[in-house]
Amino acid sequence: MFQLSNNQSLKEKNTFGITATARYYLIVKSESELYEFFKNNRSAIQLKRLFLGAGSNLLFLDDFNGLVIHPLIGGINLVRENKYQVEVEAGAGVSWDNFVAFCVDKGWHGIENLSLIPGNTGAVPVQNIGAYGVEAGSVISEVKGIDIPSLKDYHYNHKACEFNYRTSLFKEKLKEQFVITSVVFRLSKQPNFKIQYEGLEEKINQYGKTNLQNIRKAIIAIRQSKLPDPAVFGNAGSFFKNPVVSELVANSLKNLYPELPVYSIGHGVVKLAAGWLIDKAGWKGKSVGNAAVHEKQALVLINKGGASGKEIFRLSELIAEDVLQKFNIHLEREVQVIGD
Ligand code: EPU
Repeated sequence: MFQLSNNQSLKEKNTFGITATARYYLIVKSESELYEFFKNNRSAIQLKRLFLGAGSNLLFLDDFNGLVIHPLIGGINLVRENKYQVEVEAGAGVSWDNFVAFCVDKGWHGIENLSLIPGNTGAVPVQNIGAYGVEAGSVISEVKGIDIPSLKDYHYNHKACEFNYRTSLFKEKLKEQFVITSVVFRLSKQPNFKIQYEGLEEKINQYGKTNLQNIRKAIIAIRQSKLPDPAVFGNAGSFFKNPVVSELVANSLKNLYPELPVYSIGHGVVKLAAGWLIDKAGWKGKSVGNAAVHEKQALVLINKGGASGKEIFRLSELIAEDVLQKFNIHLEREVQVIGD
């Protein structure tokens, strides 16, 4: 049976630790519970919606005066396999890092570089999570879920998901419309290590040979050394995206700042390191009220304790304005801002 509560506190349900409440909060453990809820509550289709996994990429500015849907759908199932590959399906409510650990344990390659990213599997395709040279979209073969307005289930194959840097069909066209219930990954039984990311190979060598377990250990160690633990300081990982600009723009900045990190992504466009720009602009470790810029990674904003969503948002505005003024680069938020 679905669980519905009114005026539910969201403080424990967002990794920023922001105080906010949801008018209605719905937990479903299966697709049929979701159907059942809407069958009994037809008018709920009209409500403003928010799909909430582990709340690790959200910033609440206000209370949420609508329906929060939390899909707590578990299960990891092998869909098919051959000598070279497996297709494995994980429920939207499966903790992402538990799923990565499961696959690494089985000897399945493809997501080890995405170890320790907070959140649930259902959120993974939405923002096409990525780290250390791998994007989840590259190994997602299918995304399953329910379109709320029509209450019909759909399966989207890889191509239909429109994966791009930190975005997808689900974050753009189907935003708050299509609730993901499970995700199918195509993983390899053969090694296909991606260890080019600066400093990764050295870290792996500290643990021994290059294999799945040691890559996972190295990634976990690198993340823990740079990224704040939300249990200590509320945060949502990178607050901004790395800006994508033309080579022309990057080259003119490189002339002024030869040490600027630039990553080519082909077709005459490059990604700049937003963390570097924010750091260079002098924001690293700076606080404004209870909101601060993490002292080891300037792309991460933290709640020093008791910060409101608006306080964190204000800090992000000050940073973006300053980066624009100093480098003429627009920073785009990666975190989903809820409220206005
Ligand atoms: N840098 C600085 N100062 C800083 C932060 C970064 O100079 O304060 C420089 C670094 O020295 C490096 C470059 O900027 O040369 C890039 O930094 P880093 O390797 O830490 O990665 P990032 O580009 O800042 C991205 C992802 C992270 C992911 C890491 C590792 C985005 C928005 N962020 O960060 O993802 O973990 O790469 O692959 O693409 C997240 O999305 O929440 C997230 C944490």
